[in-house]
Amino acid sequence: MTHDAYIRGLGFYVPETVVTNADLEKIVETTDEWITTRTGIKERRVAAPGQASSDLALGAAKAALADAGMQADELTHILVYTLTPDFYCPPTACLLEEKLGIRGKFAQDLNAACSGFVYGLETARAIVALHPEAKVLLCAAEVLTSRTNWADRRTCVLFGDGASAAVIAATPGRGSAHIIDARLYSDGSLGHLLTVKGGGSAAPLKLGDVVGPNFFVEMAGQEVFKHAVRNMVSVCEEVLAAAGATTDEVAFLIPHQANMRIIDAVAKKLSIPTERCVITIDRYGNSSASSVGIALAEARGAGRIQPGALVLLAVFGGGFTWGASLLRF
Ligand SMILES: CC(C)(COP(=O)(O)OP(=O)(O)OC[C@H]1O[C@@H](n2cnc3c(N)ncnc32)[C@H](O)[C@@H]1OP(=O)(O)O)[C@@H](O)C(=O)NCCC(=O)NCCS
Repeated sequence: MTHDAYIRGLGFYVPETVVTNADLEKIVETTDEWITTRTGIKERRVAAPGQASSDLALGAAKAALADAGMQADELTHILVYTLTPDFYCPPTACLLEEKLGIRGKFAQDLNAACSGFVYGLETARAIVALHPEAKVLLCAAEVLTSRTNWADRRTCVLFGDGASAAVIAATPGRGSAHIIDARLYSDGSLGHLLTVKGGGSAAPLKLGDVVGPNFFVEMAGQEVFKHAVRNMVSVCEEVLAAAGATTDEVAFLIPHQANMRIIDAVAKKLSIPTERCVITIDRYGNSSASSVGIALAEARGAGRIQPGALVLLAVFGGGFTWGASLLRF
């Protein structure tokens, strides 16, 4: 059985509507100065009314398929990582399959909160190890603004919508990236620090209910911050050590885009200069599961990632979940 897996294509899609910090100043008591200095975010994208996670996933999937030089019908598996599915049922992966105009594939939704893209790479790697002929479409898609409380200045300034996609196969292609290794972790005892509870089976809604604050993202920001830095650093060190690589060899660190201060702290502790970090948070905010994939696809599309480059992805999210994946282009 082979354990090799390659990213054969990458793509991303963000909605057209831009919401700037100045726009947010009009709806909550905040300032561009506070948001910029505390988070690094200048603007974020917001889905249009009626635009759902499967629509964003479709844009990213088409771009990844074009990058891979593949037709949708060549796919065997569709994985959608999201914490904002279109519906509880049907799964967003099945809606995406239909929108891609294909049928009869293995399609499922999964949720690892903001760690979704890196969890998804590992799930895809496991699938191609079991089925060497597999062509797996991984999409991480979020309309997080559908679960954003626009009256809560502590959270509403942070999030944005977007989708990223990768096509994974057991054999390399032109410009592909070898998934060298990954490490993924979770700690459910800390799940209460970052939640979207309302409407779930433990906090159900009844006919006629008005949603309360727990319908939206709620977060103990400073606690999340500390765990994010500590865990992303340790998991990066671990995946590098397992591969016999050092941070000097890393061409790019691509961390989850949650807060510029988190990115700076992780990079500093790993001794990776900011110039070797891929940053999108200023333009897209925190787009949860999709963020690392968007940064990876955008950097590669812009020609920043050259053949031979070692790229380190690091993620952290609700659950808590966290992980790192090491790629060689
Ligand atoms: C959320 C976060 C930006 C807050 O930054 P912080 O420096 O920890 O700020 P605090 O929460 O301590 O708040 C400091 C003050 O700013 C205020 N504040 C919060 N949001 C504000 C906003 N948008 N505008 C202006 N003031 C704001 C707070 O009310 C508080 O005021 P007080 O001291 O009078 O009570 C930061 O904690 C963070 O990024 N945490 C990680 C979040 C994250 O990454 N989540 C997703 C992980 S996947």
